Amino acid sequence: MTGIAVEVDGSGVHVPEGASLLTAVRAAGVELPALCSDDRFSPAGSCRTCLVRADGRIVAACVTPASAGSRLDTATDDLAQLRREAVEVIVSALPPRALADGNPSELAHVCRSMEIGPEAAQRAGGRGGDDSHAYVHLDRDLCIACGRCVRMCSEVQGTFALTLVGRGSDTVVAPGTGGPWAESDCVACGGCVDTCPTGAINQPGPGRGLTSAFHPAAARTRTTCGYCGVGC
Ligand code: FES
Repeated sequence: MTGIAVEVDGSGVHVPEGASLLTAVRAAGVELPALCSDDRFSPAGSCRTCLVRADGRIVAACVTPASAGSRLDTATDDLAQLRREAVEVIVSALPPRALADGNPSELAHVCRSMEIGPEAAQRAGGRGGDDSHAYVHLDRDLCIACGRCVRMCSEVQGTFALTLVGRGSDTVVAPGTGGPWAESDCVACGGCVDTCPTGAINQPGPGRGLTSAFHPAAARTRTTCGYCGVGC
């Protein structure tokens, strides 16, 4: 068998050399929140929602490489509490509609699994949006500054149209050109919409919300065409 052997909550799995602990956890069939991570581009390790214990040390699973023979714990009460607190900090900077009933986003899915309700979302809103583009709508109040859209745009699509602006909890995604989205370098590949975990970047109009529906990584099928490198 190729790759390296790792133990996750007592079960043995094999992952490729250089794979992250998050890959090992998912290979074991364990669902772990990972709000700033997407396996299509490099991890940032910034949200701390993917904490696990590896050989006695608490680490972010997305940025920690798996080592042969490592023993991971994901399910202890202290880890669950740490991950919950990380999610609650993120949610507290959002308006309650971020977790409204029926919201299909990845964040809403994570919150439902942790029984975190809209009452945890405390921000009044008011940061506004950008409706200038025909195919992409930005809702700044839902942005958690995870940077997934920025890395999708640069590392996968190679367009470098997006950046993060602002400081602290006011950090949001914005076109790198500084003006409205419609005047940016965006090529409307849809990659940012696809990876956004909250619906902050979404389709304009009545279909809004549909393309950010969360599907666990193990349930996804990827295809790519010649138009862009994102995959559908
Ligand atoms: Fe690991 Fe955000 S997904 S720190």
